[in-house]
Parts: sequence; C-alpha cells; structure tokens
Amino acid sequence: MTTDEEICRKLDRLREDGADFETVLSKAVAYLHESNPRYHWTGIYELFPDDILRLGPFIGAPTDHVFIAVGQGVCGTAVAEKRNMNVPDVSKAPNYLACSTATKAELVVLIRKGDRIFAQIDVDSHELDAFDAAAVKQVERVADWLADAYRARRETADLSPRTVR
Ligand code: SME
Repeated sequence: MTTDEEICRKLDRLREDGADFETVLSKAVAYLHESNPRYHWTGIYELFPDDILRLGPFIGAPTDHVFIAVGQGVCGTAVAEKRNMNVPDVSKAPNYLACSTATKAELVVLIRKGDRIFAQIDVDSHELDAFDAAAVKQVERVADWLADAYRARRETADLSPRTVR
C-alpha cells in the first residue's frame, strides 16, 4: 500500500508544478486507486449547494449513481450525519445504493473543514471488511490534503473579480 505521506508528497509536487484543480482531483483518485489492490472503485463526489452529491473523477465500473441526495445511500448518509462511513458488509447496510453487484465493502471519507463539507472520497471493494485502520487513515489523510485544496480554491474564487458585485 502506498503510504498517505507518499500520496500527499506527489500531490504537493503536482500543485507546485502548477497543475489545475481538476487534474489534482483526478490524480488523487488515481494515486489512491493504485495504492491498494483491494480498492476496486475509487471516486470523488462533490457536494453542491442544492444538497446533491455529484460524481466527479472516478476509476472503476461506470455507476448509475451520478447524483445522490444528501441522506440517500451510504454516501448521502455520511453527509447528513457529518461522519465517515466504513461499511464492512454492504449487504447489511439498509440504505446502500448498489454501484456494482461485486461490491462487498465501502468506505466514505468526507473532505471537510470542520462543519464545512466540500466533497467525499468513496472507495468500494470486492472484499468483505476491506478497510482496516491503516487504509482508513490513508484515505483520511488524502481527504485532509484535498480539504485544504478545496478551501484554497473557494477563497480564490471568493476574491475573483467575477464575484464582485
Ligand atoms: N454505494 C454508494 C453509491 C455510490 S457507488 O458505490 C459508486 C451509496 O450507497 O451511497
């Protein structure tokens, strides 16, 4: 498993080289996905002001769940309850939205600064109980790195001439 430090260092380098935000997001998904053979679907859902999660970059099988309302599924529940979700057996999760019949376990980690939720990292695995403490910590560290990037982007957007009234 590539460590969280290695992934964050690679993301630091991308940012220093001037990569745009969308590239950084896609690379974060790719680095995570490649880091662990248990990660079979890895993606980012972004939270929009209408309380809908919209699918961003992902690697894995295409999913029908491009839009997920807050409160729906494991992804929407994580936002509604403002907490990360580690589901060892999705067949036991009553609110689970199936992406692929092969999925057995799911991890959702919020990309947030305090109560401000920007997005989430969603990882699915074909193995039961796939996400141990090290995997959770790794995804959390990458989510924290991305939260800084989202906050910086929002601050820049807030200062841009387009938003001055
Ligand atoms: N399983 C998720 C839906 C997203 S797909 O896994 C990619 C859920 O229950 O919210």
